[in-house]
Amino acid sequence: MIDSLNNLAQFDIPRHIAIVMDGNGRWAQQRYKPRVFGHKAGVDALRATIESCCSLGVEFLTVFAFSSENWNRPTKEVGVLMDLFMLTLKSQVKRLHKNNIRLKVIGDRARFLPSLQSKILEVESLTEGNSGLTLVVAANYGGRWDIQQAAQLMLQHSIDNHIPLIELKIEDYFSTAGLPEPDLFIRTGGEERISNFLLWQIAYSELYFTDTLWPDFDQDGLELAIKCFSSRNRRFGQTSEQVNETFNNK
Ligand code: IPE
Ligand code: IPE
Ligand code: MG
Repeated sequence: MIDSLNNLAQFDIPRHIAIVMDGNGRWAQQRYKPRVFGHKAGVDALRATIESCCSLGVEFLTVFAFSSENWNRPTKEVGVLMDLFMLTLKSQVKRLHKNNIRLKVIGDRARFLPSLQSKILEVESLTEGNSGLTLVVAANYGGRWDIQQAAQLMLQHSIDNHIPLIELKIEDYFSTAGLPEPDLFIRTGGEERISNFLLWQIAYSELYFTDTLWPDFDQDGLELAIKCFSSRNRRFGQTSEQVNETFNNK
């Protein structure tokens, strides 16, 4: 692992990586196992990815764990996913804290059981002051929900404080307020779509899609994605010449 990390020294490490962890169900089905088996293996893959991100010096990792549309799955699978979220929080809290990781959960948590809501709050406040990786878990998250709730909050703030809307920035009301926008967006599992993840925030992210099913995603997979990211020319609307000039003047 040390070797492969050294190999990355020449590459740009994204400051913020966002991942749609897709393919758990198919991974289990390929093994003639129930889907829950894939979700459990998915938690292991997440743990390994968090470790890799810490070693590589990635500052922010945002993972899509449960979308606002995932409630439409069979009740049993939804129940299993909720239980797994709770169990994982309980079993990993010490490890996260020991590794100086700050946990933040984004999404509409009002629909979760009160016990899950208070566990989330507990882990967030315990790890709030940590200065290592910020791990953002998107649970009951939808990009459209985020834009809508931000618009409502911004409007309320404008009315309450007599501030014209034009002077406010919607970014300050997103659930991701204070986080930099993702540099690299990864989706595993072969589908090439956003599925209502961070809609506004990925406006200028580099998109990377892989057929690897999430439980099989490992350090090598992450390195491939980072190498690909590193080869991209991010122009943010400018010309290559302008970008190179800024780079040379640094
Ligand atoms: C992603 O894996 C995990 C969640 C959406 C919770 P899936 O469960 O969507 O796996 P596939 O896409 O059916 O293989
Ligand atoms: C996106 O995956 C949501 C998560 C990974 C949590 P889905 O499996 O729900 O996406 P679709 O249904 O294929 O678009
Ligand atoms: Mg899926």
